[in-house]
Amino acid sequence: MTALDLPAATGAKTLRIGPHEVDPPVVLAPMAGITNVAFRRLCREYGAGLYVCEMITSRALVERHPKTLEMITFDADERPRSMQLYGVDPVTMGKAVRMIVDEDLADHVDMNFGCPVPKVTRKGGGSALPYKRRLFADIVRAAVEAAEPAGVPVTVKFRIGIDDEHLTYLDAGRLAEENGAAAVALHGRTASQRYSGTADWSAIRTLKEHVTSIPVLGNGDIFSADDALRMVAETGCDGVVVGRGCLGRPWLFRDLQAAFTGQPVPEGPHLGEVSRVLRRHAELLADHMGEEKGLRDLRKHMSQYLRGFPIGSDLRQGFGLVSSLAQLDDLLAQLDPDVPFPVDAEGPRGRQGSAGKVVLPEGWLDDPEDATVPTGAEIDSSGG
Ligand SMILES: Cc1cc2nc3c(=O)[nH]c(=O)nc-3n(C[C@H](O)[C@H](O)[C@H](O)COP(=O)(O)O)c2cc1C
Repeated sequence: MTALDLPAATGAKTLRIGPHEVDPPVVLAPMAGITNVAFRRLCREYGAGLYVCEMITSRALVERHPKTLEMITFDADERPRSMQLYGVDPVTMGKAVRMIVDEDLADHVDMNFGCPVPKVTRKGGGSALPYKRRLFADIVRAAVEAAEPAGVPVTVKFRIGIDDEHLTYLDAGRLAEENGAAAVALHGRTASQRYSGTADWSAIRTLKEHVTSIPVLGNGDIFSADDALRMVAETGCDGVVVGRGCLGRPWLFRDLQAAFTGQPVPEGPHLGEVSRVLRRHAELLADHMGEEKGLRDLRKHMSQYLRGFPIGSDLRQGFGLVSSLAQLDDLLAQLDPDVPFPVDAEGPRGRQGSAGKVVLPEGWLDDPEDATVPTGAEIDSSGG
């Protein structure tokens, strides 16, 4: 499909999340270790949308852990300020959202029920939690009740289920809707798939048919603007959530903006433009964390920025070890700015891994209505 087919083909309409209009209907997926204030700013410079911060653990927020307070940094012009919370306990979740409201820390709260990391599911957190229907509903309600007086919308992000035998997404969608969520987002994989295989977009379509009073956002395997249009056309979803597709490619938000407004999608950038973006990312990280830490953090993005470009292994290795802006400038000066964007840099990128059995607490699957708060699950998790 070309971008120009969009309005007729998808019927894409304005996405509203509570009081916030999200136009184009594009959301930067929360990604732990990635979607900090620097990366969000870089993406925001390319296009409009909703840009969600890294996941924040509700307990750590309530206890005011210094690192957590640093993670909730937003730019002065960042609106809406979108914060994702992780939690397993309605009381702590309620307190965290009340703190956000009382201290005016964010304008939107998203909740993470999709994390498949074993150290989280083993304790009943993340993608294990929606199996416990009552507990899930209690947590959503606690957040909504705390947020509602301030007009802060709460959205809920989850996966299809634990595995093919234990699907939870339709109940999660219904319960989120009944308990006041302003939108739901579905990553079309089970926890046992982790990031492997392909996302099942038909589940997004089914959820859209099931949840009728609030927007349903689709997530999983959008690596190009065309993928986003295709997801909207195939599923009828009200908006798209984009994660790995923008790693090393923040200009994907420019492409998405073009596609959703029926404009032609620009060509991928030459190496000179990629260098400029990398430099900008470095500057923003250095501003946020200090030069040394910021440049170290940038290393994890290098292979994505340089993917497919013929730059030689020595230079590639140099980028992977960069530790100062001056050193980065030296390396960038060695690149040929005229090299065109490589065709093989398109397609899936980022975390993939392999499927595996989901580790759960003993007896977790015995009673879906048990609302006991799991213990030890309020740990710092990385990755959903
Ligand atoms: C590095 C990384 C970190 C992630 N961290 C989070 C997170 O903190 N919260 C969350 O809800 N999802 C997290 N995710 C999942 C993404 O938000 C998204 O659901 C998933 O990557 C599928 O979308 P994609 O195919 O567009 O990447 C993370 C994914 C990656 C790759």
